[in-house]
Amino acid sequence: MRDMSFHITTFGCQMNAGDSEWLARAMQARGFSEAPFGQASVYILNTCSVRDKPEQKVYSEIGRIRSLTGNDPNVLVCVGGCVAQQVGNALFSRFSQVRLVFGADGIAQAPDAIVRLTRERFRRLSLVDFSAEYPEREGPLYAGTRVPASAFVAIMQGCDNFCSYCIVPYVRGRQKSRRAEAVLEECRAVLDAGAREITLLGQNVNSYGHDSGGMGFTDLLYKVAALPGLARLRFITPHPKDLAPELIRAFGELSVLAPRLHLPLQSGSDRILERMGRRYTRAQYLDLVAKLRAARPEMHFSTDIIVGFPGETEEDFQETMETMRQANFVGSFSFVYSQRPGTRAALLQDELPRKEKLERLSRLQEWQYAHAGEMLRALEGETVEVLLEELSPKPEAGLVIWQGKEPRGHTVNVTLTGPEPARGWKGSLVPAQITAAAMHSLRAEQVGEAR
Ligand code: SAH
Ligand code: SF4
Ligand code: F3S
Repeated sequence: MRDMSFHITTFGCQMNAGDSEWLARAMQARGFSEAPFGQASVYILNTCSVRDKPEQKVYSEIGRIRSLTGNDPNVLVCVGGCVAQQVGNALFSRFSQVRLVFGADGIAQAPDAIVRLTRERFRRLSLVDFSAEYPEREGPLYAGTRVPASAFVAIMQGCDNFCSYCIVPYVRGRQKSRRAEAVLEECRAVLDAGAREITLLGQNVNSYGHDSGGMGFTDLLYKVAALPGLARLRFITPHPKDLAPELIRAFGELSVLAPRLHLPLQSGSDRILERMGRRYTRAQYLDLVAKLRAARPEMHFSTDIIVGFPGETEEDFQETMETMRQANFVGSFSFVYSQRPGTRAALLQDELPRKEKLERLSRLQEWQYAHAGEMLRALEGETVEVLLEELSPKPEAGLVIWQGKEPRGHTVNVTLTGPEPARGWKGSLVPAQITAAAMHSLRAEQVGEAR
């Protein structure tokens, strides 16, 4: 075991991924270094409780740490994120190595708490209170190599929508928009440190400002888009009910706004959408897709689907399938409905048998898989600009191959033929012609100078 070393395990959504990146930087700023699983003195589990036995997953991970480290009392296990918010101090009594529990808002104080706990070996700390305002965190801390070519910047915390199946508003708290100036400051810092792409993060990004009465999402987007050095801008996740006409217009006007939208549909049946409390209809959803396509014809869409919501009939499911074909999704995250404690949907009586849910899910995924393949093959021959992120994990003798993303967000492995630009390949934008489509990625060859 290395002293002053940490390992972070991340479950769940992009918000958690963004939080973990920040945590890693904050730990490094305090003199800790990253270590492989099993070799660190501090373990941080950033947890998710959105579906399926989330607590069990966390317990088994803590169990794994306990057995690998022989339950060493010098090893500190910190549990953060949505399960920690939900289960809280009960974690202490189950596992002696767990001495810090922190929730969505408590994370801002977690790095200092960790430093304290490494010095005061028998103390325990709990940071699970929600704050009234967005929990602003210390410095951007982007010194050194940790800034990826594509960076996440959070613009809000929590959610006010209370979709009937969802635990997020309970574990992340009410929506709290971050001050626009703080968002812009962090964006400037990541760009100064070498990032070329920014993804704005939130559980419901396009309701940004609704809680604070301040600047709205589209205005914020225009401000970020104008920052010097930014090559590409994305955001996740928007809600269809809040997708304003000016946001659709922004896709036509802002060339840095990437032509890819992840827009959760959840179901294509109006009856189920109503029971989910989503506050849009299938027709309204498809109308948004059509308008966005008109604003940006090359746009690709992806989505989230819940299969087997209580009371979903085969007919409802067929409506979901039909809507997916009409929306022409290039990808979807699809899940069987999982009952979450305390949510409104948990009170519904007509839950489907698991077998039926899984059977529908596999039909849906089979379609999506085949369809994504077709859509990727249709891109063969196109020239795209690829933002390089890392060396390709599949090297080929005699070739320099880097992996990155094209504007619609598809992974591309590019064979580089030109001279390496002064900034290095990482974070460079390379024009490349797509030569082949694989299962989940594209192959391409450089056809012009990197910028
Ligand atoms: N704020 C985003 C994402 C929320 S959680 C949104 O509104 O879309 C990410 C996804 O998990 C959801 O889009 C939904 O598809 C899925 N999900 C949430 N609760 C679920 C549940 N109880 N069972 C199954 N899937 C669920
Ligand atoms: Fe959950 Fe709905 Fe909020 Fe998304 S919008 S986080 S699904 S309550
Ligand atoms: Fe999971 Fe919490 Fe995100 S429940 S999906 S980690 S907001």
